[in-house]
Parts: sequence; structure tokens; C-alpha cells
Amino acid sequence: MADRVHRLAVLPGDGVGPEVVAAALQVLDEVGARYGFSISRAEYPIGGAAIDAHGSALPAGVVEACREADAVLLGAVGGPKWDDPRAAVRPEQGLLGLRKGLGVYANLRPVRVIDALAQFSTLREEVIVGTDFVVVRELTGGIYFGQPQGRSGEPPQRSAVDTSTYSEAEVERVARLAFELARGRERRLCSVDKQNVLATSRLWREVVSEVAADFPEVRLTHLLVDSAAMELLRDPRQFDVILTENLFGDILSDEAAMIAGSMGMLPSASLGEPGDDPLRRPGLYEPVHGSAPDIAGTGVVNPIAAILSVALCLRISLGEPEAAAAIEAAVDQALELGARTRDLGADDDRALGTAAMTERLVELLPYPARVRA
Ligand code: IPM
Ligand code: MG
Repeated sequence: MADRVHRLAVLPGDGVGPEVVAAALQVLDEVGARYGFSISRAEYPIGGAAIDAHGSALPAGVVEACREADAVLLGAVGGPKWDDPRAAVRPEQGLLGLRKGLGVYANLRPVRVIDALAQFSTLREEVIVGTDFVVVRELTGGIYFGQPQGRSGEPPQRSAVDTSTYSEAEVERVARLAFELARGRERRLCSVDKQNVLATSRLWREVVSEVAADFPEVRLTHLLVDSAAMELLRDPRQFDVILTENLFGDILSDEAAMIAGSMGMLPSASLGEPGDDPLRRPGLYEPVHGSAPDIAGTGVVNPIAAILSVALCLRISLGEPEAAAAIEAAVDQALELGARTRDLGADDDRALGTAAMTERLVELLPYPARVRA
């Protein structure tokens, strides 16, 4: 019998979302059986699937149910079926509403080049080998949420508006989290903004610099976002923790994914305020990749981003760091031994599908060093 039970809210969403979530849950059950815990889960609709079934991308009660759980696992949202730019309800509203509703203001996106994959990046191996940084993206503010937002007028006089706002408190809390993270790593924090143009960025830089006074051991640098985009490709190893606002973080993290070889490799954790137990911070976990409608249902999607997201969940929200490390070790080993999904450069006849890659990882999951009584 498992001695610990963790409650997970599961939101598979659209496209490849349900496939990668199923793979991640399989690994989670297997690692739980080895490390003495079990997962009780409840599934909820989100995104396009929720629009089809309930007329809303985030049906009533879903946010509350997620808040009750120990952690939330999400697949992906969106797809061509719901892409009409004039539609009033859009799948992405579900994801944005969930992030806002849960108050998960800090999105951590670790980017690590696994040695065995370094040759598959579109960048030169000697430039990227050893890359290991985390993007901390502010997730509940900025131009994603500012009001007014919308459009008006008829042709030829249509216009649209988006608004970016940041308060001092919003910048400060995510900056603190990024400094704390950097303090436990290589103690280098690079804050990315566009302070030569944007008022929000000038506030951002000012507040981040003030927070730095509380973290004298962390070396703080600043980059403009255009320059950061360039530096990421020129010399990615210079980065340890990158802190940036919502929109810049969205863009830079996709760019960073290509350093790691594939979007199919990158996990993410979105965190809000810590609760009473510092070892079990509530969070929302999702792969960085989207719903990939072009390959949905074909059984070829790489499940590793979702599986590594579950590892982050075990470490940050469920207080199971050993199980998290076991999953990460299995991923490293599988790749070292040559297991490849199609996105990792395998020829079609050598490529493992989603199920085969998941099985491979389960086979390689290490057992605890000392079995608990
Ligand atoms: C991401 C995605 C989302 C975002 C979309 C699906 C709304 O691109 O998580 O990076 O822009 O935040
Ligand atoms: Mg994105």
C-alpha cells in the first residue's frame, strides 16, 4: 500500500495534450509504486475541448477545483478548429484564465542541453554543449492581461489595442523568486527588458535593481530583449537565470527550446505564493510545447516535456524529490542509450512513438537506494 496520496487536477486540453498527459501519468504511477506514494486524480476540461463540450474555454468551477488539488497538470490548448480570429471564445482564454485564477505569477522554464542530444540542435554543438539555464517568465501581468484590449471600427478604419501594465508589486514578487532561484544555482541573474522604449520596462529595471540589494551574493546584469535574443544564440552558456516579463518570456523560451534541440524536451512549472508548507508549493505544470495539431492522434509526439514537467511537480509541489530525480535520470539514460522520438532527429523507421518512448522510460526508472519500511 502506498503511504502517501497526492491529489492532482489533470487538464488534458487539445491536440497532443491528452497524449502527453497520459504518458506523464503512466510514468507518475510507476514512479509512485517504486517510491511509496500514489496519485489520486480528477480530470477537468479546458481549451477547445471545453468550448465544444461546455461553450467556454474555462468552464465554471475548474479554477476552484484546481485550487483544491495539490498540483495541476496541463497538456496543451488550441488548434485550427478554434482559430477564427473573430471568434468570441478562444481556447487560449482557458489557459490564461487558469494562470490568472490560480495566481501562478512565475513560470519557470529550465533549458538544459543533454550531452547525447547536443549534435541534433540546429546550432553548432560546441556552442551549446553544457548549456543549463532557467527562464523565469512573469506569467499573470503585462500585455497578456492589460486593459483595454480589443478592436473596433469597420474596414477601412479597423483598429485594435493591447495594453501593457506592471505594478511594482508584480515585478517585485517574481524578481524575488528569480533571485532565490539564482542563489541556489550559479548566482547569476540576467534581467531582460526594453527599457529604451517602454515605461513598463523602466519600472521593471528599477524594481529588479532594488530587489538585488537583498541578494548581494547574486550578480545581476540587464539586457535589452533584442540583444538577449541575439546573445541566446551567440553564447547560451553565459546564462544561469533569465528573468523577464510575460511577452518577452514567451518568445525567448521558444527560442531557447531550439538550443535544447526540440520543443518536445522542455518542461515548465508555474508558481504562485508559497502555502504553509515550504516543501509543497502549489503549482501548475505543463510542457512548453503547444497542441501540435499536425501530429495529434498519430502517436508520434515526444512525451518527454510532459514527463519532465511531472518531475518538476514532484520536486516543487508534492515533496517527492527522489522520485523527481528518478524520472530525470531515466530520461537522461534513455537518450544516452539512443532512444529518440521523431522530433529528436530519428529517421522514421528508427523513431520511437509516444507509447514506446514512455515504456522505455518506465523500464529505466531507478528504484530507491533504500526501500522504505
Ligand atoms: C505558452 C503558450 C501560451 C502563451 C499560449 C498558448 C497562450 O505559447 O505557454 O508559451 O502565450 O503563454
Ligand atoms: Mg509560448
